[in-house]
Amino acid sequence: MKDRFGRPVKSIRVSVTEDCNLRCFYCHKEGEWHRHTKEMTSEEIERILKIARELDIRKVKFTGGEPLVRNDMVDIIRRASPIMDRDVSLTTNGTLLRKYAYELKDAGLMRVNISLDTLSREKYERITGLDLLKDAIEGVYAAVDAGLYPVKLNMVLLRGINDDEIEDMIRFSADSRSILQIIELEVPVEKEYTSFFRRYHVNPKFLEEHFEKIAERVEYNELHRRKRFIFQFNGKRAEVEIVRPMHNSEFCKYCTRIRLTSDGKLKPCLLRNDNLVDILTPMRNGASEKELKKLFVEAIMRREPYWK
Ligand code: 5AD
Ligand code: SF4
Repeated sequence: MKDRFGRPVKSIRVSVTEDCNLRCFYCHKEGEWHRHTKEMTSEEIERILKIARELDIRKVKFTGGEPLVRNDMVDIIRRASPIMDRDVSLTTNGTLLRKYAYELKDAGLMRVNISLDTLSREKYERITGLDLLKDAIEGVYAAVDAGLYPVKLNMVLLRGINDDEIEDMIRFSADSRSILQIIELEVPVEKEYTSFFRRYHVNPKFLEEHFEKIAERVEYNELHRRKRFIFQFNGKRAEVEIVRPMHNSEFCKYCTRIRLTSDGKLKPCLLRNDNLVDILTPMRNGASEKELKKLFVEAIMRREPYWK
């Protein structure tokens, strides 16, 4: 189904909890972190995904907070997999992945994104508040071993913290057979002039230009038209994707996803909170499939490009 701007909605990003075992200082808190909210149960998530599938949404990515702090995440994946034709992925900080990677794979998880901004133990603690770099790295290897493919590493570029680690991160991703995603720090327009953003934001355009020169091949990820560069690095195949959302109208023009917050609200745009559609409350109050589907359509119709 297409929105008012002609953009097809092909995937849904579902936050399963606002809770997280880390405290990244830059986190845009996809689940809002408005504590004490009611989380959807695995059955409720399954029901909402079935409605999404009827609207031709064929891909789901689970996120948080940290999805793996929920003890029924394997069950959620198992329910989602047949509905979404197995296109099921997970964004995680990886610190709990060593424990779950094989079980998740077995339940039908296809691939993972692992947040990893640095390879320095000290910087990791500075960014996330916890000394868990070792666990996150073990999580990356566990995911690769378990055959979750591809494993992507999410590196949010932060001035003065990890902008000197790009080569190291490429080396690590090539060695571990994962794909490196370098992500531009993102805030809504009203936060662009905060000292936080001015201090840490780096525009990754210069990286795109650099990789364009050295790449053997450039591919486009259909979502957001992100560029992926493929090249040889120290004799190994390296793949680097650059995610450049800020003031990028291309990014919004090719956005094909809708979101669902952990308390069951359809969210047309990551950077906006003023146009959510609550689907969980009506569901709990006994709304029919038809009524719920209407709410879903309403949320799709509320989608509009953030960066125009
Ligand atoms: N800007 C860009 N990326 C962010 N993430 C979290 N907060 C921000 C932000 N403000 C990333 C995390 C994680 C993914 C879900 O989003 O690193 O990998
Ligand atoms: Fe936010 Fe993810 Fe960091 Fe948790 S691990 S604080 S959800 S960016």
